[in-house]
Amino acid sequence: MLTWALLAFLLGLLYWMSRKPSGLPPGRWGLPVIGYIPLYTSDIGRIINDLRKEYGDIFTWKVGGQVLVGLCDYKLIKSTYSKPECQGRPTLFTFELAQLNTNTGIINAVDDVWTQGRRFALRHLKDFGMGKSSLEDVILHEAVNLAKSFEATSGKPVEISWNLNVSVLNVIWKLVANRRYEMDNKEVTRFSEALTADIEVSQTRCLPLDLFPGLHKILPKFILNKWMKVDVLSKNIEDLKNFAMDIIEEHEKNFDPDNIQDYIDVYLSEIKKEKDNGGTIFQEDYFNLAITICDLFVAGSETTSSTMRWLVALLATHPEAQKKMQDEIDSVVSRDRTPSIQDREQMPYTEAVLLEVMRFSSLLPLGLLHSTTEDVQIGEYRLPKGTGLFASARSCHRNPKYFERPDEFYPEHFLDEEGKVISRKEGFLPFSLGRRQCLGENLARMELFLFASCLIQKFSAAPPEGRTISPVSDPSKPFLNFINPYEVVLTLRE
Ligand code: HEM
Repeated sequence: MLTWALLAFLLGLLYWMSRKPSGLPPGRWGLPVIGYIPLYTSDIGRIINDLRKEYGDIFTWKVGGQVLVGLCDYKLIKSTYSKPECQGRPTLFTFELAQLNTNTGIINAVDDVWTQGRRFALRHLKDFGMGKSSLEDVILHEAVNLAKSFEATSGKPVEISWNLNVSVLNVIWKLVANRRYEMDNKEVTRFSEALTADIEVSQTRCLPLDLFPGLHKILPKFILNKWMKVDVLSKNIEDLKNFAMDIIEEHEKNFDPDNIQDYIDVYLSEIKKEKDNGGTIFQEDYFNLAITICDLFVAGSETTSSTMRWLVALLATHPEAQKKMQDEIDSVVSRDRTPSIQDREQMPYTEAVLLEVMRFSSLLPLGLLHSTTEDVQIGEYRLPKGTGLFASARSCHRNPKYFERPDEFYPEHFLDEEGKVISRKEGFLPFSLGRRQCLGENLARMELFLFASCLIQKFSAAPPEGRTISPVSDPSKPFLNFINPYEVVLTLRE
């Protein structure tokens, strides 16, 4: 009798503890501990569409131990993500691991560490040319080299893989460490592979560990390592950090205050200035700097190269758009010189193609998760501190309210009646919005323009004979919409 009473009491307590707090938007709460996990869990895009249909542009979704609020309307995302209380990051296993369980770097950092790190990075990366024409030569050098690397395979099916990744990584290497690597360099290939593997494992096998906090403490090691690949993830993160540390130490040895050449130098000089001043991110163990470097590579490499892979696939499957882009390149740039950033203003169609690629692919369909650092009022709802937030870029990008042909690849979405490009458009948020908006947007846009125009000036892309390319992604990877691998024929233009 006593046992039953105790059991009933415990169940009641569990139910009481996991009840939905008042004030949250309507949505799915599901069962205690488990939350709401539909049968088609592997397709998060579909779950979000269904929740949106049922509850509207703001809804609650409790999944595992995470209470998430989904935002699917552009204006709502803009106003929510501009609030200081909405700039946290949720406590997720993979986020914590990426920072080696410290509050460091930029992407997953919170509070003062984030504000200081972001401000410093924005200011000083600009000094070294981020988003400015002074970096143009570096990007052009990579873009021309990349195009050259496809000459040998002209007319044959190829996969666009490591050479693109290395070219993109080299731009960040230049900013961060004033370095450049050749395409076949083993060290940088391993670095690039580790970055890609981390992103892949974090959003697939390790997802249950993010959804159920504490699960990693109770699961046996063989499940964590064999099945979820936590050991691979940890080792890769540790390797990336050590790689960054070695480069920092090399910079420290050769440090010359009168010759500041890159982001590491400027950070080291700040550490020397801030000596003995506790409470800042400029500490002599270099740990924060190492994690920041890893963050810049994680955020700036696979995003840009994946967008390029979408671009090539979409042009190969839309020859009329490719032809218009080539005609524009030929008339503005001609075939005799390489495109430059100054040409951009006279190339609205090319710009529109790039924007449309970002819309169509919605590379980060949910952005990166935010969380509330205080209780906060969003319209008629009150979100408690610690609520996870996601901004469904994909819902906006596929909304007919903003885009005339939401499910088609249609560059004209970004052209006005006079044929001028509309680069900031309501409903368009590939880089997210608000205070955490992508820090590398200008750099990414510049890279995409130069890489794309150099490649398409020289080559025409088409599917291999007798085959098709379907520009789609794997729906089971919810956070990064990598295009499924494909082969394409890049043929040198006459
Ligand atoms: C096509 C390329 C890119 C896309 C689509 C993209 C998109 C995004 C998105 C959606 C976020 C999340 C913002 C949020 O939390 O609300 C983000 C954050 C970030 N991005 Fe990018 N990004 C790209 C390229 C880059 C590049 C080239 C860099 C720099 C090297 C970069 C650095 C960052 C950083 C550091 C953050 C974290 C910002 C913070 O938490 O304050 N990104 N990016």
